[in-house]
Amino acid sequence: MDASKQHFETRAVHGGMEGLEEAGSHVPPIDLSTTNPLPSIQIGGESYDQMASGGSILPGQSAVYQRLWQPGVARFEESLSGLEGSEASVAFASGMAALAATIIAMVNEKKTHVVGLRPLYGGTDHVLDNGVLGTTVSWVHSVEEISGAITADTGLVMIETPANPTLELVDIAAAVKAAGSVPVMVDNTFATPVLQRPIELGATLVLHSATKYIGGHGDVMGGVICGSNEWIGRIRHIRALTGGLLHPFAAYLLHRGLRTMPLRVRAQQETANELAHRLSSHPALARVLYPGLEGCDPQGLIGTQMAGPGSMLSIDLKDGYNAAAKFTESLKLISHAVSLGGVDTLAQHPASLTHRPVAAEAKPGAGVVRISIGLEHVDDIYDDIMQALKA
Ligand SMILES: Cc1ncc(COP(=O)(O)O)c(C=O)c1O
Repeated sequence: MDASKQHFETRAVHGGMEGLEEAGSHVPPIDLSTTNPLPSIQIGGESYDQMASGGSILPGQSAVYQRLWQPGVARFEESLSGLEGSEASVAFASGMAALAATIIAMVNEKKTHVVGLRPLYGGTDHVLDNGVLGTTVSWVHSVEEISGAITADTGLVMIETPANPTLELVDIAAAVKAAGSVPVMVDNTFATPVLQRPIELGATLVLHSATKYIGGHGDVMGGVICGSNEWIGRIRHIRALTGGLLHPFAAYLLHRGLRTMPLRVRAQQETANELAHRLSSHPALARVLYPGLEGCDPQGLIGTQMAGPGSMLSIDLKDGYNAAAKFTESLKLISHAVSLGGVDTLAQHPASLTHRPVAAEAKPGAGVVRISIGLEHVDDIYDDIMQALKA
């Protein structure tokens, strides 16, 4: 059956599995080979040229060396592309390695300026703000400001929606329009392709910290960029040069994670939505930040750009830092830990952790605690939050 005609859930289960049955396997083998046999000097050299420059392996070629090509990583990339609707994907050891390779690829095209729409994940903000990769950044705070910030040197407009940790939504199609001919990269980590597919809205590149919902169990790190064959070839070239590879074990786990991702994302979202509504009138909270709550989606992007509000929510404690510290330290079922998107609920204080290096004007409020809702029963999560708010 033509995969492009299959439903999303079917593609999530079967993507990247081609040729397994013929090989007598049910799941992808984990090939740990760091080097691969070369049929001849000539084929070896041609294979090297093909993959070291960012191309995909061709029939009859050797994979040569794991830094150039790894079959399990390629299977995972292919499956994610099928879900994001991109021509290709390239996977890395972490989300930050994926971001760094993309920026290096941009600099390699002689563009050194990025327009960043705040807020972004703290690590992304920090890399752009301190210019460690030889770039400069102009920060904007609305889609309307994007076009005015673009210069002849701009190689990328970077946005994240829902944003980390405020859960604000950005209109992707409007950002793409405002960016004109400059490529827009969307960090789709929080939404996943289950809820939002930025390429369909005109974005050039999609970034994932695969460490989060794609892996889904808090036990594997990875990052992926999805985009056109041309862009992904450029970025894969940088991966071959700089080596931020995804390990074959990690590729196996991430590929496996994709198979249950639609179910997990929707179940976690249902619980988050229920909790956000239950918490929205709590007297200790100044605000609950969740795109599914009234007033949190003024542009009406839920149901149009995004299929649902997701399973990340933030609470803003009225009494600020001390209340946030007491709350996070009093949690019993919920782990006080960074990261997100796994089967278990996690809570953390962004201003002290994920957004610690961010410049003061972009730092989240001292009372904001971000909660990644897992697959536990809604009442058990709610009871833990209630007891921690009373503590
Ligand atoms: C939205 C977002 N983007 C990117 C990253 C970076 O990914 P990684 O930690 O896999 O390097 C993170 C990490 O928390 C994130 O939350």
